[in-house]
Formats: sequence, structure tokens, C-alpha cells
Amino acid sequence: MSGDRYLTFALGKGRLAKQTLELFEKIGITCEEMKDKDSRKLIFVNEELKLKFFLAKGPDVPTYVEYGAADIGVVGKDTILEEDRRVYEVLDLGFGKCRMCVCGPAHAKELLQHHERIRVATKYPLIAKDYFYNKKHQTVDIIKLNGSVELGPLVELSDVIVDIVETGSTLRENGLDVLEEICPLSARVIVNQVSMQMQADRIKKLIADLKAAL
Ligand code: PRP
Repeated sequence: MSGDRYLTFALGKGRLAKQTLELFEKIGITCEEMKDKDSRKLIFVNEELKLKFFLAKGPDVPTYVEYGAADIGVVGKDTILEEDRRVYEVLDLGFGKCRMCVCGPAHAKELLQHHERIRVATKYPLIAKDYFYNKKHQTVDIIKLNGSVELGPLVELSDVIVDIVETGSTLRENGLDVLEEICPLSARVIVNQVSMQMQADRIKKLIADLKAAL
């Protein structure tokens, strides 16, 4: 894996980071320092393999990769779609599986069938806009929230939400249903477009090793 320069990885903090590091370990890419949960350090280096890793907020990962601050990123498909950055998506890692859905109280299903002008609360305005405007041809008002999106219909902020559904327990516990499915999601590897050319051999080997380990 060694080469002239460091290959830099941007990993999304949170749910996917642990599984990503476990997968990297399987192919011999380790970074002991990163496992220390109490550490406030932001960048970790594996001198032997000439690799650098940093943890970033998920939505920032495609930004670091587009600008070349990271050669490679691991992030959810939801973030890739929402951030819409110029990066190559090269591999589906198959974990972090969930679905992007339109959810709401059961009676809201009708509002989706009659193309009514409804309110949609979401952390993903671009995905919601693309789905309603381009796929369903339904004009809606999109309200951006930053989390706990399920509150939207409960406090009558919105008719429905566009959000991630994993186990479905958040919906169940709040009396909401999946009304329509937008797309499946999982963790993906993204690559900077210039790095893909300039570091082609190292990156292709990495992708092949990851594929073999999956
Ligand atoms: C996500 C998502 C749902 C929940 C779905 O939220 O926005 O709320 O997980 O998971 P489930 O189907 O297994 O219940 P997250 O926990 O990331 O927090 P957030 O609501 O603050 O975005």
C-alpha cells in the first residue's frame, strides 16, 4: 500500500465509523489511535502504510472529498444524494442498510395520491424536492429540520416527513407509518475525481481488497 504520498480518508462520525474501521482492519488497514473514544484528536496517521484518517460530520465528508482534502470518503448514500458533490461513488459497502421514505400518519397516504399541496418536514430537502417535484410531480412545501423529524406530523408542523427508516421503531413508537419508499440506502465509498486518476493503482487495489473482504 505504500506510495509517494499519504492517502487520506474522511470517515463520517457516528453509526458508520465503527463498521468502517472494522472492515478496514480486515484488509490490514489499522489505526489503533482512532479507537480511543476519549481522544479529541482529529487526524490519525498510519506512517507505515502512508495513510491518514479523519473523522468528520457526515454531511461534510463529500465536501472534503470533492475538494481533495480527502482522497477517499465513507459515507451514507443519503448524504451523497443530499450533498450532490462532484465525487465518484465507487463501492457499496452493504452495511448501514436503511431506506429513505415518506412517512406520516396512515391517513396522510391519501394526500400523496391526490397531488395535494402538502407540507413535508425533512433533514433532506434536496432528496425530498427531487422525489416530489421530479418523480411524483407534486408541488409541496418543504420544511428543513435538523433532527427528530418524526415530530413534524405529531405537532402539526407538517403532513408527512421524508426521513431514514432503519428498524422502524421510531415510527412505531410515534404512531407513524411508511407511506412511500424513495430509495434504499447503505454506506458507500466515494473518491476524489483527481485522486482516482493520479493514485489509480493504490485506490483500485484498495477497492478490490474491500470488495474481497465484504
Ligand atoms: C434516524 C432517522 C430516524 C431514525 C430511524 O435518526 O432520522 O429518526 O434514525 O431509525 P429506526 O427506524 O431504527 O427507528 P437519528 O437517530 O440519526 O437522529 P435524528 O432524529 O436526530 O436525526
